[in-house]
Amino acid sequence: MRIGITGVAGFIGSHLADAFLLRGDEVVGVDNLSMGSLANIEHHRENPRLRFHELDVRDLDAMRAAFRSVDRIVHLAAFKIPRYGNAIETLEVNNLGGRNVLEIARDGQRRVVLASTSDVYGKNPGVPFREDSDSLIGPSTIPRWSYAVSKLFDEHLAFAYQATHGVPITILRFFGSYGPRQHLSWWGGPQSVFISAILRDEPMEIHGDGMQSRSFTYISDLVDGIVRATDFDGMPAALFNLGNTVEITILELARLIKELCDTPHELKLKRVPYSSLGKYEDVMRRVPDISLARRVLGFDPRVDLRTGLGTTIAWQRKAMAMPPAGSLASEGRGHA
Ligand SMILES: NC(=O)c1ccc[n+]([C@@H]2O[C@H](COP(=O)([O-])OP(=O)(O)OC[C@H]3O[C@@H](n4cnc5c(N)ncnc54)[C@H](O)[C@@H]3O)[C@@H](O)[C@H]2O)c1
Repeated sequence: MRIGITGVAGFIGSHLADAFLLRGDEVVGVDNLSMGSLANIEHHRENPRLRFHELDVRDLDAMRAAFRSVDRIVHLAAFKIPRYGNAIETLEVNNLGGRNVLEIARDGQRRVVLASTSDVYGKNPGVPFREDSDSLIGPSTIPRWSYAVSKLFDEHLAFAYQATHGVPITILRFFGSYGPRQHLSWWGGPQSVFISAILRDEPMEIHGDGMQSRSFTYISDLVDGIVRATDFDGMPAALFNLGNTVEITILELARLIKELCDTPHELKLKRVPYSSLGKYEDVMRRVPDISLARRVLGFDPRVDLRTGLGTTIAWQRKAMAMPPAGSLASEGRGHA
């Protein structure tokens, strides 16, 4: 198959490209390098089965030209964290990007695999979340919800394109993924900033009391699920949770990472009250019910947190000693 991937130079996109290329598929990848880096796909520089286009997913004509011959499109390009002043980009990139991908897929009725997020369940206290659980989104006065709303909009738009234009769609709600190539900032998730803090002997920032929980999915497990979902053609419109079901509090995560980093220093925690984060609301528990993906796709996450974090810490030790991600991009290096 020839697979189109938006956000191919990002964390998940680059690993997904690896998986498709490894099994012999062709990949047409696009990215505007705003948050991704060519360093993530540099190892495929000489691979004729990867074509890379530097473009913005908001540009419909450029997208149409890049994806004219692909069989399926996996849409990953997005902005994720509006709390750092990216609220307009989050709403705009996520909605225009989603609409453009669906519009392009109308030609030839090509399947769109759309990356969504566990954040769409919002403050719903009823874990584990099933795909038909309610979305309990906070008020629009709190910017963090713009991400969930933008992804919910994309989901609704995808269902509408399926119903109105017959475009086959598969929506995937990812639950916090981690692994090599994750961003070395909050963009990469709490595990990423905790590892950096411990390796630098700095305090780990704990928001609130640290009793909020998450479930973390190692990147190879997530990619396996995305590949299975991309191959899947059994329903015109499908929606799956993809994640690991093991729940851990943020405080337990901090302690586990400290243990695995095995540094000689004391564990240093810095409590950050929610009130100091401006208008912010956290999600207290986030655990997926993955029985649908297990049954229909054969999805079966296998990498336990200790093992996955061990590999990630080893990678991050090296990455922190290297020039920051994006430096290759700013030098203008890349595929045509
Ligand atoms: N990483 C996670 O744990 C997680 C969890 C839930 C959902 N998701 C979703 O998965 C997808 C991929 O996430 P990721 O962690 O790999 O993020 P990432 O930031 O590493 O990758 C996203 C890529 O999209 C690119 N991009 C952003 N705006 C663009 C634009 N306007 N035009 C072209 N490219 C653009 C960025 O440069 C980046 O390379 C996103 O849709 C995200 O919302 C991720």
